[in-house]
Order: sequence, then C-alpha cells, then structure tokens
Amino acid sequence: MKVIVKNNHKEVSKEAADIFEMEIRNNPKTILGLATGSTPIGMYKELIKRHNEEGLDFSSVTTFNLDEYLGLDPNNPNSYRYFMNQELFNHINIPIENTHVPLGEEDKAEISCKVYDSMIQEMGGIKLQVLGIGSNGHIAFNEPGERLSANTSIVDLTNETIQDNARFFDSIDEVPKKAISMGMGSILKAEKIVLIASGENKAPAIAKLLNEPYISTYLPVSFLLAHKDVTIICDEDAYSLVK
Ligand code: PGA
Repeated sequence: MKVIVKNNHKEVSKEAADIFEMEIRNNPKTILGLATGSTPIGMYKELIKRHNEEGLDFSSVTTFNLDEYLGLDPNNPNSYRYFMNQELFNHINIPIENTHVPLGEEDKAEISCKVYDSMIQEMGGIKLQVLGIGSNGHIAFNEPGERLSANTSIVDLTNETIQDNARFFDSIDEVPKKAISMGMGSILKAEKIVLIASGENKAPAIAKLLNEPYISTYLPVSFLLAHKDVTIICDEDAYSLVK
C-alpha cells in the first residue's frame, strides 16, 4: 500500500487527478470506478479543467459508480446519479450511456444489484477505482458490522453515515436509510485503487488502517490491505493520527 501525504484537499485532488489522467491517456477505452461525496469533487473539477484546457478525452471511457441511495430516482438532486451528472458527466465529453450508477428506484434496485457486478466484468472489469472513506471506515456503503456483502447489494446505512450525510439534505429525516452498494468483492476486483481522504474527521479511520495492519469487517477499509495495488492520498489533517 502506497501512502502519499499532501498539504490540503486541493493538492490531494490534483495528485488523484494526475493518476486518472495518466490512466485515460494511456488507455482511452479504460473503465473507471467512480465515487460520490465531498472528497472527489476536487478531483472531478481538475479533470474537467484538463478536459477543457488540455483536451483530456473521455469519449471512449466507461464508468461505474460505487453506490446509490435506495428510493431516490435519478432526477432527485440528492441522488448520486444527479450528483455525478452535475459534478462531472455534464462537463466532459463522455457519452452518458457509458456511465453507470446503480438504479435506486424501488422497482429497479433489486435487478440492478443482480446485474451490476456481471456488467462490470463483461465490460472487462474496473481498471482504476477511486474511493472515499467514511468517518467510520466504510468504503462505498459497506458499513462496519459482523459481515460485509461480497457483491453489489442493498445495505442498511449506519446512524453515523446517516448523520455524516445529513449535511446534503434539508433534514436528517430525509436521508435514506438504505442504499445499493458495490460489495467488498466487487471493489477488490478493480486492478488499481486510489483512496482519497481529507479533513480531521477522517483521521481516526486512516490511523486505524495504517497504524496496525489487520483486516476486520468492523473496519471495511482494512480489506484494502489485501489488495495488490492501492494508493492512499490524504491531506495532513486526515493523516494526523498516524504514528
Ligand atoms: P465524503 O464521503 O467524501 O463526503 O467525506 C466519503 C465517504 O463516505 O465515502
């Protein structure tokens, strides 16, 4: 596991964008795994800038997102499909049909779970995956607990995650309690993984991951210790409790 520490979120975003840019330039038909949340927004802004100013070409790129809230349709501004369109897809030249986000609507979610992993594998598998990390150590919506799902499935969100995500909603009652999430197995199949973390609220989870190399379902991010190509890019605040 390679660890890169940067001064701040902006530098984290640039470093991550460099890795994504290199992947896209070396392999224009690459398959990217993408994430939502505050952390990757800076990286998406960088990639949009490089598209506009340096001709970074997304026309043959395919993407798969990690997760989606259950019960939100794609036009809901709190849905992750809406987020991805707003923060990235609407500003680059990726054909929208090349972009995939699990379908959150109640009547589509179950079938979406069933086909998502096989769709990824049929397309050739994810070459480069970006991940954020929850303050509780979750990756995607694989929440700490007795067991973790191997495949894409419908999961319950923990109170901690619901509270963390309430800032995006008008009230905490509006935060969905369930989501569709790629499983640990789905994520670990990616060829390369880049995890980005910024801010002191991520410091306890980053410290647990890096201070002692053990794997536990109670720290989902720790499964990355078993992957052969993971780069962690964090800012000094997120790194501050690492011994
Ligand atoms: P954040 O979320 O980037 O909004 O902090 C990260 C996550 O929960 O995976």
